[in-house]
Amino acid sequence: MKACIFDLDGVLVDTAKYHFIAWKKLANSLGFSFTEIQNEELKGISRVDSLNKLLGWGNIEKSDTEKLELATLKNDWYIDMIAEMTPEELLPGSKELLSELKENGIKIALGSASKNAPLILEKTGISPYFDAIVDGNSVSKSKPDPEVFLLAAKLVEADPQECIVFEDAQAGVEAGKRAGMKVIGIGKAEDLRQADFTVGSLAAVNLALLQTKN
Ligand code: BG6
Ligand code: MG
Repeated sequence: MKACIFDLDGVLVDTAKYHFIAWKKLANSLGFSFTEIQNEELKGISRVDSLNKLLGWGNIEKSDTEKLELATLKNDWYIDMIAEMTPEELLPGSKELLSELKENGIKIALGSASKNAPLILEKTGISPYFDAIVDGNSVSKSKPDPEVFLLAAKLVEADPQECIVFEDAQAGVEAGKRAGMKVIGIGKAEDLRQADFTVGSLAAVNLALLQTKN
C-alpha cells in the first residue's frame, strides 16, 4: 500500500447534518418537506445532482438559471455553518490515522465530491496532512464515476492497486471499486456491500490493520 485516499463528508467529518439543515430550508422555502431518509440518498453525490433529486421529490421544474440560483442559495446557508467548524468536529480516529500514515511515509490524498472541501479542511486543521486534494472543483464526472480517485492516485504517483479508499457512501464505494482500488466502507456492511470490508469509524483502523488487509 502506497497511498490512502479519503472521502471527506461522512469519513473525516460529519457534515451531513449541515447539508440536511440547508436542503431542508430550501425544500421548505419551495413549499415541500425534506426528511433525514432523503438526506441519506444525497450522500456522496454532487450539489447539482442533489438539487435535481430534491426538485424531483417536490415535483418542481426549474430552468437552468433558476437551478443555479437555488444551488447558490443552499450553498450560502451551508457555508455559514461550515465556516464555524472546529478541529473538535473531526470524526473519531481521523486525526490519529492521518498522523500515523504521515509518520510512516504513506501518501495521503483527498477524493471528495465537495466544492467546499478546502474550507472544511482548513477549519478542522487537517490541510497539512494532504499530499494531494481532489474535490468537486477538480473533476468533471461525479461518483460513482472513478475519475476522482484515479486523479488522486495519479497526483500522489501511485497505481490504483497500491491505493486504499475510505468511503461512507454507496456511490463512493462503487467509484473506488471501479478505479481498481481496495475500498474500506465506513458505516454498515449491509449499506456498503461492494466495500472490501467495513468498519464503524476510522477509530477502528490503524496502519497494522491496513497492512494485513492489503
Ligand atoms: C459530498 C457529500 O461529499 O459532497 C454530498 O456527501 C454533497 O452530500 C457533495 O452534495 C457536494 O458538496 P458541496 O459542498 O460541493 O455542495
Ligand atoms: Mg462521504
